Amino acid sequence: MLIKLALMLHLLGFLVLILGVITRFIVVRRLGTPKEKLPGTARLRSFNKAPQALAFLLIIISGSIMTAALWNFTDAWILGGLLGFPAIDAVTIISVGRLLRKANKIAVEVTQAWGRLMALLYIAVCMVVKPDWHSIFWIFAVTAIASVVLASAATSKRRPALRVSLSAAVLLILLSSVFAWRLDASKLPQSFSIMQGMAHHHTAMVSVDQLTESPGDQPVRNITLTAEEKEVTVAGKLTKAWTYNGTSPGPTLRARVGERLRVTLVNQLPAPTSIHWHGVVLPNSQDGVAGVTQDAVQPGKQFVYEFVAHQPGTYWYHPHQDPAHQVDKGLFGALIIDPATPTDEQQIVAVAHTWGDTLTVNGQTSPTPIEVAPGKRVRLRLINGDSKVLPLTTGGAPFVVSAFDAGAVNEPSTLHDIRYDLAGAGRLDMSAALSAGQELDVALGGSRQVTLRLVTAGSKTTDLSRVTAFLNPLHYGLAKGTTPLPQPDGQWRLNIDGAPGFYNGRFGWFYTINGKRFPNGPMLMVEEGKTYDVTFVNRSRADHPMHLHGHTFQVLSIDDDIASGSPMIVDNVNVAPHQTVTIRFTANNKGIWMAHCHNLIHAYDGMDLMVGYKDVTTPYLVGGSMGNIPE
Ligand code: C2O
Ligand code: CU
Repeated sequence: MLIKLALMLHLLGFLVLILGVITRFIVVRRLGTPKEKLPGTARLRSFNKAPQALAFLLIIISGSIMTAALWNFTDAWILGGLLGFPAIDAVTIISVGRLLRKANKIAVEVTQAWGRLMALLYIAVCMVVKPDWHSIFWIFAVTAIASVVLASAATSKRRPALRVSLSAAVLLILLSSVFAWRLDASKLPQSFSIMQGMAHHHTAMVSVDQLTESPGDQPVRNITLTAEEKEVTVAGKLTKAWTYNGTSPGPTLRARVGERLRVTLVNQLPAPTSIHWHGVVLPNSQDGVAGVTQDAVQPGKQFVYEFVAHQPGTYWYHPHQDPAHQVDKGLFGALIIDPATPTDEQQIVAVAHTWGDTLTVNGQTSPTPIEVAPGKRVRLRLINGDSKVLPLTTGGAPFVVSAFDAGAVNEPSTLHDIRYDLAGAGRLDMSAALSAGQELDVALGGSRQVTLRLVTAGSKTTDLSRVTAFLNPLHYGLAKGTTPLPQPDGQWRLNIDGAPGFYNGRFGWFYTINGKRFPNGPMLMVEEGKTYDVTFVNRSRADHPMHLHGHTFQVLSIDDDIASGSPMIVDNVNVAPHQTVTIRFTANNKGIWMAHCHNLIHAYDGMDLMVGYKDVTTPYLVGGSMGNIPE
């Protein structure tokens, strides 16, 4: 509430400043004409005194309130704005002071008008860019210089209009050259190690390659996945896609707890690729992150992934070599780890993925209803293979949520007609036993609706508008009977901000973690066996599905809502706009693990960091001759 008010006042203050600049220019135009004597002109003049000062104060105070409430602003610009705005005014007036001393009324007004316009521009750019001190200095310098140059041009005796246009043109050319230079300078080095700049302990370092699961006597499941370009039918249309074994989604892989999975990736694509086993706790060497845990598998080459299935649940696999583009082209599939003792459930795997603008489930826009036998337990495993939140609505038969991601829910209560927002890359397991004539419908994707129907003989589509509640995962199931994680030994706070900027030769609206983008972000250094809290503070206006490799974590709180149900143990959590989410994990799997936003475009634009164990290092390079693109 206070925040909304502060925002309103903030914008109001800004509006008054804009009006102030406009009135100044109107006054300037009236100078030397009969209109100058009109009372209207006097009123316009007085508008530029007290109201302007007040508006400026309002902006600063409301901005500070929003900053204090962690809302949308970084901290530097408030003080930077406070100092910069009057300073640009002053710089303009003092530097054009020689002219002013000649007491040319027009010169005074014009100078002030330009000074104020540039000061306003400075504040506007600061507000949008939310800069650090370094950038504030540059924004200040550019606007102050522009202000002086334009003011002196406008107050010159001969042909002021022409001079203003000329100076403006020169300033624009200069600015665009700076832009081009910054764009080029933002390119990541052709080849670098994510270990660069890390203090190397000269104690024995372990390479990620050494982190494997030594062969035991587990039964082996051999699987071959051939990545190749193929025509597939998605949403009823023949589409050229990148596939595993000719389909997208790729084949659903299954393994039982205790089995050893041996997957041979054969790369028949025109580009290097890799496979990451999303959500699976496995040895670091098998994590599939190109440039971190392996080199990307080159076209025509093979790579064997091998790990033991330990934790039952719904997972998925996708490349971690240029995933933003390769997943988009169709490279993804489900991986199901079944409990050690077989259950007699009917299993349905549904992978949602958006092709262009079209939402599909297992490649279809209107999936065929699935027959289930009355009384038989059925488990629906939903996988969000998209970067964005997948809203879902259920209708009809009651069910329980048996797992969030791969984290089983303790004592789930029965639900019906609910809504839930499934995070990008997240999974949801629903279990039900339908009675004769009952139906369970799950509508995915909101307005781009695709409905999955679990039907029994004679059942009818349900009324999906009867939704009674939003499922809050923090209070679902029972905490009683579960073991809480130990108290944390350390913690991080990660601020997420959005702002325009330059990254790797691109200009756009990018997100930062603590003001940094990959590879400049911090490596979160952990020690084996210790427990850590991470608080994500989203100050941007986008969702960020935050994902950690090689571990699971528990979601402790979302804003003031403190978890009280069955521990929500996941590998992925959506941090909605302006939300603060705290998670806890125990560092129990040595390696160098990526932690990133699973909006793959955000990750591609630098929203990634590493969780590193103190004595682990990697020989792999980002870029380099293998063309490794981890994100
Ligand atoms: Cu689904 Cu870093 O990955
Ligand atoms: Cu993001």
